[in-house]
Amino acid sequence: MKNPFVYGGEVSGSAFCNREKEIQELIRDIQQGENIIIFSPRRYGKTSLIKRVLEMAGQMDILTVYIDLYPAITKQKFVEVYARALAKSIKGKTETVYETLRGLLPRLVPKVVLKGDEGPDFEFSYDKTADTLPLLDDLLAAVRKQAEKKGQQGLVVFDEFQEIANYEDDEIERKMRSIFQTHREISYVFMGSKKHIIFDLFSNPNRPFYKSGKHFPLGKIEKEVLADFVSSKFREGEIEITREMVSEIVDLCEAHPYYVQFLSHILWEEGEEKAEIGREELDTALQKLLKRESGSYITLWDTLSQKQRQIMSALSQEEKAEVFSSKFLQKYNLGAASSLQKTLKSLMEKDLIEKEDGVYVMADVFFKRWIRTLEG
Ligand SMILES: Nc1ncnc2c1ncn2[C@@H]1O[C@H](COP(=O)(O)OP(=O)(O)OP(=O)(O)O)[C@@H](O)[C@H]1O
Ligand SMILES: [Mg+2]
Repeated sequence: MKNPFVYGGEVSGSAFCNREKEIQELIRDIQQGENIIIFSPRRYGKTSLIKRVLEMAGQMDILTVYIDLYPAITKQKFVEVYARALAKSIKGKTETVYETLRGLLPRLVPKVVLKGDEGPDFEFSYDKTADTLPLLDDLLAAVRKQAEKKGQQGLVVFDEFQEIANYEDDEIERKMRSIFQTHREISYVFMGSKKHIIFDLFSNPNRPFYKSGKHFPLGKIEKEVLADFVSSKFREGEIEITREMVSEIVDLCEAHPYYVQFLSHILWEEGEEKAEIGREELDTALQKLLKRESGSYITLWDTLSQKQRQIMSALSQEEKAEVFSSKFLQKYNLGAASSLQKTLKSLMEKDLIEKEDGVYVMADVFFKRWIRTLEG
C-alpha cells in the first residue's frame, strides 16, 4: 500500500481529514454572498480546505474561480494570472470559451495553448505599454457578468493574497474594493500564508480593504479527530500501533496538521516492514523529521539577529512565559522590556511567533524542538 500520509502541498480525497464545521460555515457564508478573510499560521490547511469548498460549491452550481496569486509578483502578472484562472472556470467547448472570454475581456487577446492531456488552456496577450486600469475594470467585473448571464452565484478565491501588498501602489487593492463591494451575489475569499500581512490588509484603517469581510481564523484540527484519522490509516495498512502512541504523535506535533502528516509519513516508512510501530520507531522518526527539516531551519536561523535568536531560544524553553517579567528578562539576559517589544514585533512579522490568548508562542513546533537541540 502506498504511504497514505501526505505532507506539503494541498491534500484531497482520502488524504483530507474532516474540517466539517469549517466547511459548513464557509458554504453558508458563501451562499449569503459574504466576503471572507481566512488566515492561519503556515500549513494549517487553508488551501486544502478551500479547494474542497470550491469543489462542493461547484456541485451546487456556483460559478467558482480559484486564483493563486503566488506567481503574480507584479500588477501585469496579476492581470495574466487572474485572466487565466477565469478562463479555467468557464466550462464548455474551446470555441465557446474563447468567445465568452472575448466578450468578457475585450482588451485581452486569448490564445489557446495545448498542454499534454490536460485539454486546452488559455494564455493572454495585451498591450503592456497601455494603462492597466481599463483592463482591470473588465477583469474585476468579469465573474459577476458571467454569473449574471448564467443566473448563478459566484465564488472567487484569492490564495496567497499577501502578494498584492508588494505592488508599487495600491491601485489594484482600491479597484478591487470598490468593484467587489457592489457584487452582492459573489462571495470573495481572501487568504494567504503570511498571516500578519493578510491581517494587516484587512485590519489597518489606512488600507482600502479595511473591515471589508468576515474574519475566519482557521485553527488546528481537533486532537481526537486527528488521532482517529491517523489510526485508521495505519489500520488500513495493517500496521499495528496503539491508540496511546497515536495520541502521543498528535501531542508531539501539537495537533499541527502538516507535522502530524509528516511524522506519520516517516513512521509508516519505519513500521512498514515490521508491521508494527513502537517506541523505537517513534524516536527514530522524530530524529529523521528534525534532520530532514534542519536545512531550512539553519537557513532561517542564519537570517535572524542575535537578539531575535535569544528570544526564540528563550521561548523554545519556556513557552507561554511572562516575557516582560524581570525574572524572565534576567534569566535569558534579554535587556530592557522596551527593546524586547520591538524584537517580538519583528518576529511576529516574520510569522515565527504568534500571540495566543495574550501569550507568545512559537509558530512552528519542530523549529522549537530544533532550537532546543542547540542548547545541547
Ligand atoms: N484537512 C487536512 N487533512 C489532512 N492533512 C492536512 C489537512 N490540512 C492540512 N493538512 C496537512 O498540511 C499540509 C499543508 O496543507 P495546505 O497546503 O492546505 O495548508 P496551507 O495552510 O494552505 O499552507 P500554506 O500556509 O503553506 O499556504 C498538507 O500537505 C497536509 O499534510
Ligand atoms: Mg496554501
